[in-house]
Amino acid sequence: MAIDIVILAAGKGTRMCSELPKVLHPIGGVPMLGRVIASARALGDVAITVVIGHGAELIRERFAGSGVTFVEQTEQLGTGHAVAQAIPNFREDATVLVLYGDVPLVKTATLQALLEASAGGPALLSVLMDDPSGYGRIVRDATGQVQAIVEQKDADAETLTITEINTGILAAPGNLLAQWLPELSNDNAQGEYYLTDVIARSVGENIAVTGVIADDPNEVAGVNSRAQQAELERALQADNANALMAAGVTLLDPARVDVRGSLSCGADVSIDINCIFEGEVSLGDGVKIGPNCLLKNCQLAAGTLVEANSIIEDASVGEACTIGPFARLRPGTELANGAKVGNFVETKKAKIGLGSKVNHLSYIGDAEVGDGVNIGAGTITCNYDGVNKSKTVIGDGAFIGSNSALVAPVNIGAGATVGAGSTITREVSADELAVARGKQRNIAGWQRPVKKS
Ligand code: UD1
Ligand code: CA
Repeated sequence: MAIDIVILAAGKGTRMCSELPKVLHPIGGVPMLGRVIASARALGDVAITVVIGHGAELIRERFAGSGVTFVEQTEQLGTGHAVAQAIPNFREDATVLVLYGDVPLVKTATLQALLEASAGGPALLSVLMDDPSGYGRIVRDATGQVQAIVEQKDADAETLTITEINTGILAAPGNLLAQWLPELSNDNAQGEYYLTDVIARSVGENIAVTGVIADDPNEVAGVNSRAQQAELERALQADNANALMAAGVTLLDPARVDVRGSLSCGADVSIDINCIFEGEVSLGDGVKIGPNCLLKNCQLAAGTLVEANSIIEDASVGEACTIGPFARLRPGTELANGAKVGNFVETKKAKIGLGSKVNHLSYIGDAEVGDGVNIGAGTITCNYDGVNKSKTVIGDGAFIGSNSALVAPVNIGAGATVGAGSTITREVSADELAVARGKQRNIAGWQRPVKKS
């Protein structure tokens, strides 16, 4: 069955009070429209049309190359008018599924169920609400058959008591919609062309409408304000946390972890409070993450420990490494198994070899560090002359004394030693000792200056 998806995203989103079009605001680090597109894609062979209006250019730009087709609705004359803009894209015999760019948490399984219910005629997704005010009500007859959707503003007192509301999400044979939508009238309280009017039309033509009731209100909730955005953000994060725990991850507080992308974990991973995971992050078996860490697009192999307040971005970390507390691994950092990067150490485009240690207060950038190297506290690779970046290479087993400045480009040979406080400007060969600092002089009987009276 061919599925044509129409995503409505032309509205202004006035209540967001934002320059950014509403559907570009993120939930879980992904623009709402991106989430809807991803859920739709997961249905399989779909063609997606996005109806845009307000902020059209920004939306096109953001989703250029994402494989969706855009149609513009220059005037927002109602949801029925919006879907009608996509009619030229309907494929022969396709089922059309209408989604909303500002209903970001809808699940593929729910959409699948709705599509299955729409084999003979339209199927709508509804939900039960304690407070249904503002929404279209689902009117059913005595046998429970769906008869119509009545908008709040058009409803009489009795209809207003109905607590089953229209989520707006609907599936129907495309040929029926293509026939009915251009024939909608806007003779209603809002003077709009209502998509919802196709329900009564269908019933009028003796084509039964199926109502599918969603069981999670968050899944069908729309975002109209920052407060609603924050509410769905928490709902998504609660789902993420529950999924992680169900897969065997220890979360010291499931209310204080945020996954803004995807996080995959091996067995017995433990995550302390206030950690944020962005982009694609994978953690191997037994990895432990201390409190207040930010991990973005990185892989950490089994047994690695990340201590409190560390930041890791675009990096790959081997097994049984120790990172932090207060470490910052910047893009291009690669730690081999057993490496240690400690307190207040920053690395960038740096390969650190097996078991090598950079334990305190160092900057290692544009560097290749061999195996079993010890880099003393306060060592800096001087990789930038104000114009060019240059590389530092340190061989296996080298020992760099504390507070050394390694002025790149420079090579330190295997087994070489650099005396503490040295400024190294030229090659140190294997097994040599390099000391480059002022010689110490001791002056006996030295008198400190005294204040003149
Ligand atoms: C709509 C439904 C209502 C349902 C509610 C759920 C209709 C007539 N009513 O009402 O039954 O309970 O959603 O939230 O469909 N849009 C366009 N172009 C337009 C009009 C709307 O793209 O011309 C988009 C908006 O950006 C928005 C969505 O469609 O994302 C819904 O539009 P909105 O005006 O909010 O519909 P409601 O009045 O809330
Ligand atoms: Ca709405």
